[in-house]
Amino acid sequence: MSVIFRVGRIGRLELPNRLVRSATAERMANERGYPRLQLHQLYTQLAEGEVSLIITGHMYVHPSGKAHPEMTGIYEDAQIPPLAALAQVVHDHGGLIAAQINHGGMQSDPEAVPDALAPSSKPVDFTSRSAREIKTDEIDLIIDAFGQAARRAQAAGFDGVQIHAAHGYLVSEFLSPLTNRRADRWGGDITGRMQFLRAVTSAVRTQVGPDYPVLVKLGMMDGVTGGLTLAEGVQVVSELAGMGIDGVELSGGMGGKHLVNVKKGIRSTAEEAYFIDFARQARPVTRLPLLLVGGFRSRSVMEAVLTSGEVDFISMSRPLINEPRFPRLLRLGDVDKSGCISSSNCWALESGVGIGCKCPLDKLEKP
Ligand SMILES: Cc1cc2nc3c(=O)[nH]c(=O)nc-3n(C[C@H](O)[C@H](O)[C@H](O)COP(=O)(O)O)c2cc1C
Repeated sequence: MSVIFRVGRIGRLELPNRLVRSATAERMANERGYPRLQLHQLYTQLAEGEVSLIITGHMYVHPSGKAHPEMTGIYEDAQIPPLAALAQVVHDHGGLIAAQINHGGMQSDPEAVPDALAPSSKPVDFTSRSAREIKTDEIDLIIDAFGQAARRAQAAGFDGVQIHAAHGYLVSEFLSPLTNRRADRWGGDITGRMQFLRAVTSAVRTQVGPDYPVLVKLGMMDGVTGGLTLAEGVQVVSELAGMGIDGVELSGGMGGKHLVNVKKGIRSTAEEAYFIDFARQARPVTRLPLLLVGGFRSRSVMEAVLTSGEVDFISMSRPLINEPRFPRLLRLGDVDKSGCISSSNCWALESGVGIGCKCPLDKLEKP
């Protein structure tokens, strides 16, 4: 049997294969963050398509961290029943689901959040909007909001949570020296800049208990001058197990114009697994299960990285927008490669539509 379809573990979770759906903002919630029926339909397709774990699109843990319109919310207890219905849909179709919990920080939606919070007020060039320095009592409030969000995910029957600590949102802004210029205990060297992630993880763990699966999606480096370095990212990885994390998904890059995490134009196997170096650096410093995201498209590349032992799970976003049944088609031998051409024409750009692969249409329009 292919190494892709061997059982794997993340904490107490047993995953039937090594293919994970990386968090993908679906834009399928109403204005208060409640999932629309469309999201149920998408998760049904993903679960039927045999992806071993669905990590939801990022959900905002507090109204001050809503990153964009139609983002799913997990900031109030009234959201537990609709989220439970969503988790039930996945379980009914044999799948597992983890909630990605996030705060948009300085990348929050200007319409929803006029007063965006950031570790420091220093303007950075990857967002057009301004942000003000978060006060210490607000830091405590947001840390608690992450814990409460995790509690809601658990109460709703989700199989785990993933803390979003990548892509230039609030947790990653605290990690980055570019966006965190604080002189108090939340800033300074990487040990200080890691305190926010440590406190968020602790709040989550306190709420969900010792056995509930808690993952992190970690930006291993910013890819921006003056940003988080890979050496610092490796140090963060080395401390995650001690913080109580069960598994780490490796990514990188800030948002906005520094969107290196969603690389375009992957056409050859040599261009796939574009963050493999992060796994090579992380593996020697942690025994946690490593999930790697970024450009996986071909069976041969997946098998090679899994066989090497550098990575335990393959995470994918765009291939599963292109074809939610991709894992099943791979298992059946119907395909050896995703049809995704990585043009990133899958973002939902208008309301009511949600993510969707628009590449064939794009090709027709621009011959
Ligand atoms: C439409 C879209 C939405 C995304 N939303 C999220 C998100 O909510 N949380 C997150 O951590 N990453 C998000 N990402 C990044 C992906 O999870 C992934 O890291 C990136 O696309 C690279 O993987 P891929 O080559 O398999 O697409 C998103 C990517 C796309 C294309």
